[in-house]
Amino acid sequence: MYTPICEKLGIEVPIFAFTHCRDVVAAVSRAGGFGVLGAVGFTPEQLEVECSWIDDHIGDHPYGVDLVIPGKYEGMGEMDPAKLEEQLRALIPEQHRQFAAKLYSDHGVPELPEGDRHHELLGWTAATATPQLDAALGHEKVRLIANALGTPPADIVDRIHGAGRLVAALCGKIHQAKRHKEAGLDLIIAQGTEGGGHTGEIGSLVLWPQVIAAAAPVPVLAAGGIGTGAQIAAAMALGAAGVWTGSLWLTVQESECPPAQVESLLAAQSTDTVRSRSFTGKPCRMLRNEWTDAWERPDAPAPLGMPLQGMVTMDAVVRSHRYADKAQPVAFNPVGQVVGQINEVRSVREVMRTLMEEYVEATERLQSLTAGA
Ligand SMILES: Cc1cc2nc3c(=O)[nH]c(=O)nc-3n(C[C@H](O)[C@H](O)[C@H](O)COP(=O)(O)O)c2cc1C
Repeated sequence: MYTPICEKLGIEVPIFAFTHCRDVVAAVSRAGGFGVLGAVGFTPEQLEVECSWIDDHIGDHPYGVDLVIPGKYEGMGEMDPAKLEEQLRALIPEQHRQFAAKLYSDHGVPELPEGDRHHELLGWTAATATPQLDAALGHEKVRLIANALGTPPADIVDRIHGAGRLVAALCGKIHQAKRHKEAGLDLIIAQGTEGGGHTGEIGSLVLWPQVIAAAAPVPVLAAGGIGTGAQIAAAMALGAAGVWTGSLWLTVQESECPPAQVESLLAAQSTDTVRSRSFTGKPCRMLRNEWTDAWERPDAPAPLGMPLQGMVTMDAVVRSHRYADKAQPVAFNPVGQVVGQINEVRSVREVMRTLMEEYVEATERLQSLTAGA
């Protein structure tokens, strides 16, 4: 499974793990893969704390940080985070706030304690992601910065390269991959529709080879629907330089997901996810529940664009995490279709070991077919 990207990053196997949990980042990198910390939910100060913790627990291994700077969003151009938040807040209709609040109160999800205020606008914009980038680049072991939802702006690509790190970005369409290549990115992640989180409409098996062809010679990581080593072998057979996984890490022992959320994920089948704009404003794959159904009803307000819808739902997202046991019917549970293959809690080390064993079994199976021909 050793590909040139392993050499570039100093890792043993090209298994990339996207996660919001620092423990998972450190454990994956220590197990020979490459942990990537999703920064979107952290203030720059919190991100600084998370990266320092990872630095202390990851040994000599590298890791990555993932930002979300969409190619298109409301308020683009305003680079002062406080001004932008104020400007955006004025654009949110009261109807949306009331609809979201009522869904949570109708389901008995407790309110956050008085005085426990949180920013409504986190890393969904260039203004808010730039201070996150500053924090990430201050940490030597951060060897890769990835961006979701678009090609990172040229000045950001230059800054990352200037700091001697690699830049990657996700895509769900061929033309997005071409744009990433033209922008000089080092690595492109092709995510098929089955993937968790923001995702497009093209299935992995169809998307991956087209992106690989369009991006060449830029290496491509295959994402969306990978839960076993045989699926990794399929991606490598198509020419991927490695795999980028997300859902797989939500239910590991080291994950910070609340137990009620883990139970929902372990119980879910591959048919239980839906692409919905109801939490963030862009199509995002998550567990279908009464919240996602409610936003589809004819009397529901149409979800706003990004980042406005995310500002409307930030309170719900925080409450769904804090009061996970009460919130499951309306909780934010982003996950891919691969959730149907995830049925038990395992340690990161066990998941990594199993992936490698299954990969070897799958490649041997193929070789035995060739040998028999
Ligand atoms: C809970 C969750 C949150 C995610 N958030 C982000 C994100 O903030 N940034 C990003 O680049 N990708 C995000 N993704 C997508 C992952 O990076 C990855 O591409 C995807 O999970 C791969 O598909 P899989 O879920 O089938 O493994 C998220 C995925 C999940 C499951």
